[in-house]
Amino acid sequence: MNFVIAVDGPAASGKGTVAGRLALAYDLPYLDTGMLYRAVGALAGSTGGDFRTAAITWASALNPESVYDPQLRGGRVGDLASRAAAIPEVRGALLDFQRSFATQAGGAVLDGRDIGTVIAPSAPAKLFVTAAPEIRAERRWKQLAGHGETVSFEEVLADIRLRDARDSGRASAPLVQAADAVLLDTSEMDISQSVEAARRIVEAARGRWETSHSG
Ligand code: DC
Repeated sequence: MNFVIAVDGPAASGKGTVAGRLALAYDLPYLDTGMLYRAVGALAGSTGGDFRTAAITWASALNPESVYDPQLRGGRVGDLASRAAAIPEVRGALLDFQRSFATQAGGAVLDGRDIGTVIAPSAPAKLFVTAAPEIRAERRWKQLAGHGETVSFEEVLADIRLRDARDSGRASAPLVQAADAVLLDTSEMDISQSVEAARRIVEAARGRWETSHSG
């Protein structure tokens, strides 16, 4: 039985927190797919030369099991990740690992931009987590300030808008809500309210999934 929870949404929408908490609640392995693009973006950005060529090379050579590094969460890496993620060959190189993670026995939780549309289109539970750009910018700004980054709110908001436009506007697997995903707007919610709302959505999906797999 393979109960997969797909969590998509724009930058700083709270999808990572929601996905991590769902993984704990359902005791499922969790993959933050943004980390793959962040690792590729950071490596390509520090290589020098042509960014596209470096990103494709690094994506093909990446060990996806070992990309978890809190340093990659910074704002500059987010921009590099978004640039790398717009390159179809980079996405192609990272596809198999993500699909295998999603199809492992027992199920999984994945978060990103294209989980419900490309990586796990038949996932029984799909959420599209979003919030107003100003709210997301405020959350991200507080997070960055907490990590000691000196950046203004206006810069963070401009970065969020740029990444939204790039992630949604690219030709290859753009950020878009899957037709069967449930929209969760966390603009007016704190973390625990967002997690609670996500739990309710997943519970309903799990009920339907269990019914269709019984008998
Ligand atoms: O979720 P995040 O902010 O860590 O993601 C960083 C960038 O990676 C984001 O701007 C778009 C890209 N990304 C993507 O294109 N597809 C995914 N499944 C996950 C992230």
